[in-house]
Order: sequence, then structure tokens, then C-alpha cells
Amino acid sequence: MNRPLMEGTPLNVPAQVRHVRLIEWVAQMAALTQARDVYWCDGSTAEYDRLCAQLVAGGTFRKLNEALRPNSYLACSSPSDVARVEDRTFICSATKEDAGPTNNWMAPAEMRALLQTGEQALFKGCMRGRTMYVVPFSMGPLGSPIAHIGVELSDSPYVAVNMKIMTRMGAKVLDLLGIDGHFVPCVHTVGAPLAPGQKDVAWPCNDTKYIVHYPETQEIWSYGSGYGGNALLGKKCFALRIASTMGKEQGWLAEHMLVLGVTSPEGKKHHVAAAFPSACGKTNFAMLIPPAGMAGWKVTTIGDDIAWIKPQADGRLHAINPEAGYFGVAPGTNEHTNFNCMQSLKRDVIFTNVALTDDGDVWWEGMTDEPPAHLIDWQGKDWTPALAKEAAAAGKPRPAAHPNSRFTVAATNNPALDSEWDNPKGVPIDAFIFGGRRSTTVPLVTEARDWVEGVYMAATMGSETTAAAGGAQGVVRRDPFAMLPFIGYNMSDYFQHWLDLGAKLQAGGAELPRIYCVNWFRKGDDGKFVWPGYGENMRVLQWMIERIEGRAQGQEHAFGVTPRFGDLNWKGLDFTQAAYRQVTDTTTAQWRTELGLHSALFEQLAHHLPREMTAVKAALERRLAA
Ligand code: OXD
Ligand code: MN
Repeated sequence: MNRPLMEGTPLNVPAQVRHVRLIEWVAQMAALTQARDVYWCDGSTAEYDRLCAQLVAGGTFRKLNEALRPNSYLACSSPSDVARVEDRTFICSATKEDAGPTNNWMAPAEMRALLQTGEQALFKGCMRGRTMYVVPFSMGPLGSPIAHIGVELSDSPYVAVNMKIMTRMGAKVLDLLGIDGHFVPCVHTVGAPLAPGQKDVAWPCNDTKYIVHYPETQEIWSYGSGYGGNALLGKKCFALRIASTMGKEQGWLAEHMLVLGVTSPEGKKHHVAAAFPSACGKTNFAMLIPPAGMAGWKVTTIGDDIAWIKPQADGRLHAINPEAGYFGVAPGTNEHTNFNCMQSLKRDVIFTNVALTDDGDVWWEGMTDEPPAHLIDWQGKDWTPALAKEAAAAGKPRPAAHPNSRFTVAATNNPALDSEWDNPKGVPIDAFIFGGRRSTTVPLVTEARDWVEGVYMAATMGSETTAAAGGAQGVVRRDPFAMLPFIGYNMSDYFQHWLDLGAKLQAGGAELPRIYCVNWFRKGDDGKFVWPGYGENMRVLQWMIERIEGRAQGQEHAFGVTPRFGDLNWKGLDFTQAAYRQVTDTTTAQWRTELGLHSALFEQLAHHLPREMTAVKAALERRLAA
């Protein structure tokens, strides 16, 4: 079926595709965007290689030194297109209340006029002169009862090759869709149509940006950005914002969580899912290597960023990683902070916005103690340590790699990949962990006394912003469940969904996962981190697992249960009792201030705020006063 449109866009539908709704949608989008032609991705390695070669020829990619970094590329974006754009991200639900106070909202009809139907609609003709790539993808193992399918239409070959790494992408997904399978339609354009004969730029994008979600019709429309979180629509847009609304309707969870397997020296395996806001060491935790003193413990990665979690017939919550690759932040990653990550990045990587070395390899701040003597920075300019020092002294830091520079790499490159990572059944979750970056107040680890208290901990979690994230240093931003930028509906309704799901599972006789709150970031009077973090976090994981097994003790305090010094395994680590006190103490004055901040959050979320949240807070206040 190769029906040309009136406008002449050849659709090039592969013979295998008989999904009428899909073909009609592709035809409509080709007509709207006036793409030059349509290419259906098959997801093959040959296709990936061909598109990468095309990106090299067009100047978007630079092939890295094959001897040093085989099969790898560097892309450098426009300096105006380097991050997710939260202020340009919209949840266009039927009512503003449905989107809730934490999301930008616009009425669906108004947004559709702006994007699709109005005279000056942004998507009209937006792909002129470009190919529209049809990218069919499965979020989760093909055919898994926990997985869902999406199809992204994009005018960016950079998106197509990244989606090949980040998802299960291509012909197999089209087969699975059959003639009428369900898919989430995702439309993406860089918003840079080409006039006849106009030469393309290396990183096309548009200063106008819209990242739009229609939860009721499960659609995603993204305009103007080529950057990952805005353009790889399977990730934050589908797997979190749209999927969270699907989960609410269908009784499951789409969470901003990594998933780990933790195997004890006796060979017993548990699974934990952990939510952290950006810039809290999530990738490091996802690839944790237990310290030498804890020989026999093993941590394996199921996912590094997102978990889809559904109740299964055994009454338990089972999780999959909907993604197939990692789109991680490069700066700060090195052999000490994340050895497994560095191993993963030895080959087959797409780097974005890192620096280029003179021998055709990559470098970023923190990769080595000593920077190379000369680099080409992410903006294509000469960079030397002396120039960087000069710029810093003038108050205009000039990092060689952008602080939000990224790697895209397949999960299968990870030496610590869990053997069950691709299991369509998922893995049963034993514990949920919620953690933020807090220099005071929040102890190293606290176990919630029950599900409702755990939901409260997650709902009120906060994290100090870092300079790298663009915010003022040290300001606590409340980030419930680490979902603030990713929830597709009203945050209070989301708390209620967690409470309802817990109550339902409990009524069915299931033992619910335990809930923990962690904080690796307490600082001493000298302003330095007290807890060594990284692999040593394994000690906290061991305590959690022993609690689940009913073997470990802890001390109850106002906020929950925290291990005493003697309750943790200290083998191989010289950490004093005094230091332990510094990372675990809960002072009444600090907690009074903290609860005041919880009140402010609850005022913001008053519409539909579950009564349980104010009840837990009142109980905390009573305990503090006692
Ligand atoms: C991410 C984020 O990029 O959470 O994963 O910001
Ligand atoms: Mn994330």
C-alpha cells in the first residue's frame, strides 16, 4: 500500500502493516505536517548504522575514534536546546483541576487550535522538506502484560536512532500491533521546516517549544525541541505522564523509579524500586557495587529511571523497566563513582553535549581527576584548563561538557544487568525507597510503620536544588514521589491512587512492600557530606532486607523506624558512632520547621488531598510534642 496523498507525500507503508487506524493516522499527520516523505523504522542494526551515517554526513553526529570508543557518536545540540522544558510542558486534560496545581494546563480545544487546527497552527507544514520517521516502540518486554505500545512520528533521525536504543523498536512491534492493536500516538517535530534548496543545520530546533499531553485521548504532541526528555517521547512523556493516567484508570503504577535486584550471600534475592529526583545519584544507585567488606552481596540492575508496576495474580506488585536503554547524565560519572556505568559506556554509545578530545574520544567534568590539556567543548570551541580557570575566575564558568550532557546506551551494555530485566512477567517488589538530597533534618534511612505513613513520606519528600540543575543552591523543592515534573494528573488524586491500591492489595491478603525514606546527603558543620554514599549504601539495603525478613532491629522515633548504630553491618568501613548520629538524628526544632513546609505543600494540594495525609501529619505533630 503506497498511497500518495494529494500533497504528494509518499507514505511508503510496508506490506506487513495492515493496521488501518495506524495507516490513516500516519496519512493525516503527513498531510498536516507536509513531510517530504515517510520512512517506517524496522529497528534493524543495518537501519541504525545507515541513519547514523546519514547523521554524520549531515553534521549532527561525529563518529568517535573507532579504536577508543567503537561504534559511538557525539552529537552537540543547539545551546538553546539542552534540557527538559518544564515551563513549556502541558497537561491538557478536560479540566484544570484534573491536571492539578503542579502542572501547566491549557484547555484541549485551545491547545489543538494552537498546534493543529488554527490558521497559524504550529504543526501545519512543520516537517516540510524533511522525512517523517514512523517509530513503533514497545515500552517493556514485547508482549508483556505490563507493557504498552506507542508509535512516535518524528522528523528527527537523531530521535529515531535514540529510540532504537531506549526502547524495543521496529518491525516486531508492528507485528505485535496486528490489525487493530492499541498504541499511544506520539507526534514530534523539531519545528524547523526546510524550504526547497535550504541547507539544514546540524541541530534543527525552534525557540518556540510545546511538550503537550492529552491524558483523556492518550496523545503526545511535542514541538520545537530535539533534546531527549522533550523528543524521545517514550520516556518521560509516555512512560510517566501518560502512563500515570493509564495506571490510575487501570489500577497500576507508573513511577519515576529505578529497580534493583539484591542478592544476599546465601543466594536469596529481593527486589526494590527507588524514586529519587534528578541529581540525587540515581544512576549510581541503580548500578551499585557492594563494598569489599560486604563480599557475597550482589546488586543487579533492572531499570535506572522508570518502573511500571502492576498487581499480578499472586497478589503482589510486579515491576518492569519499560525502557531498554539508559539516557543518563555524564558529568560526575567516573570509575570511582560508577564503575559499571563506565564499563557500559565503552562502546555503542550516543553522547550528547560532552566534550571531544584531540584523539577523537569524549570527556566530561569529573571523568578524570586531571582534565585533558585540550578539548573541543560541547559548543565546538577550543577548551583548555587555563581557559576554564579564567572563565571561572570571571564568574562565567565554562564547562567543557554541558552539565546536563548525556549518554544513550543499551541496557545490555551494563555488566550488572539483572538476568530478569527482560522478563515479561516483571519482578516482585519487596520494598519502595524514596530519597531526596537533604543536608539536614531527614535521617539516613527510615522505615514507614505502615503503607499510609510510607505514602505520606513519599508525598512530602523534598530535595535541595543544585547549581547544576539551574536552581539556587540548597533550596528545598518539594518533589512528591520524585514525580513533580512527571505526573500526568492531579497530584492529590495520585496520592489517593497509591492509598487505594495499597488498601485493595491488603484487602486481598497480600503483604505490601515496605516503604523507606533515605537521605545520603546529610552534611556536617564543616559543610561536607558525612555519609560516604555510593557502594556503602549497600549497608542500608542490607538493613532493609533484614527488616523485611524480620531479622533486623531499629529504633522508633516520631517519623518512623531508623536503625541504631549497632543494627547496621559496618564490616570494612570505619564510620564512627558520632558520625552516625550526625546522619540519623532527628531534632525537634528541625522537624517543626519541616512539618511547617509539609503544611505549605498540603495547602497547595488542598483540592482532593486525601484525609489520610493530614491525619498522618497530625500524628507526627503529636509525637513531636510528646
Ligand atoms: C531524567 C530526569 O533525565 O529525571 O531522568 O530529569
Ligand atoms: Mn529521571
